[in-house]
Amino acid sequence: MAFAICSPMGKGAFFTEAKESSRIKSAIVEQYFWAWTRVMRSQPKLAYIDLFAGRGVYDDGTKSTPLLVLEHAIADPNLNERLVTLFNDSDPGNADALRKSINALPRINRLKYKPRVENDKVDDTIVSLFKNITLAPTFAFIDPWGYKGLTLELIRSFLKDWGCDCVFFFNYNRINMGLDNESVEDHIDELFGESRAKRLRKTLRGLSPVEREAGIVEALMDALRDVGAEFVLPFCFLDENGTRTSHHLIFVTKHKLGYRIMKEIMAKHSSEKFQGVASFKYCPASSLHPMLFELNRPLDELEQLLVAEFSGQRLTVQEIYDQHNVGRAYTMKNYKSVLLNMERKGRIKADPPFTERRAGTFGDSVEVRFPSSKGTKRG
Ligand SMILES: C[S@@+](CC[C@H](N)C(=O)[O-])C[C@H]1O[C@@H](n2cnc3c(N)ncnc32)[C@H](O)[C@@H]1O
Repeated sequence: MAFAICSPMGKGAFFTEAKESSRIKSAIVEQYFWAWTRVMRSQPKLAYIDLFAGRGVYDDGTKSTPLLVLEHAIADPNLNERLVTLFNDSDPGNADALRKSINALPRINRLKYKPRVENDKVDDTIVSLFKNITLAPTFAFIDPWGYKGLTLELIRSFLKDWGCDCVFFFNYNRINMGLDNESVEDHIDELFGESRAKRLRKTLRGLSPVEREAGIVEALMDALRDVGAEFVLPFCFLDENGTRTSHHLIFVTKHKLGYRIMKEIMAKHSSEKFQGVASFKYCPASSLHPMLFELNRPLDELEQLLVAEFSGQRLTVQEIYDQHNVGRAYTMKNYKSVLLNMERKGRIKADPPFTERRAGTFGDSVEVRFPSSKGTKRG
């Protein structure tokens, strides 16, 4: 009986076959890396650091994040001379396999700085190493199995320098369980901060699963702000049934441009959109929930929010976006689509007006005048 010897997907099986959620995780990281290197094109040196890098290739032949990033760097003459890469994995077999896959990449010698693959356990020693150097602009990826090795201090050590952004895997399932497990208290404390973790354990008592998740993610956001993350963007992965959160990919940056770029990328990878507004979730079973499409009307809500927020004001589209989007799911495209609709209905005035713009467009510098709430016509 074949199923009798099958174990659920665990660490051992991770590299057997790339799950769709792993592909999406890699695609988000690789696409942000690409966009980030373009923003940073005038910098003489850039770094990509992946401390939990894995084997590089799944047994089914799917290339994973380290190889996708390196292939991109090899193909871009602008990066060949400037990109320094550091990979690490505590498992000697994984580090070895990664070294071999990297060496086998076509034209790998184009890279001036040979990719380094280390075989260390990420712990306090590694953190103090990064804490005590000034990093070149760096994009760091932290992708552990659970909470071990993922600490606030590690994230702080990457965020502290100019031009550095970080994305990490937050294993909600395991961390949620770990919060009630005294034997892993130290690890959880290192992730939330000791006093915040203590408060969190108390406030979570008796909460429903949904409230519990909201409380945990909120505490994490709070902790990240303490270590210099001015902008935080979580992307949620649901379990196979599409009913519970499995994990999050969390992006942290000090810059609003990084936030805007990652938002567009995560929106594109969301498995559901309501009126064109992304869910910032990957749900393997999203087709099981068609009703949500009927009930959720976030663009209608955005129109009401803008009217309430900017009544009587005159601002450019860029100003509206900058002042309003952080912490909300809306992308620039969503703002423009709502503004176009409002202009059509006469709920706002634009300068230049649509008659003087290319059809269907709303440039970043177009000025918008919101009537004061008393004079607003209902559309
Ligand atoms: C989720 S996998 C990484 C997958 C990889 N990012 C990818 O895209 O293919 C986690 C990796 O972290 C490694 N690891 C676990 N604990 C570690 C630690 N404390 N320090 C460094 N690596 C560790 C494991 O050997 C494993 O390969």
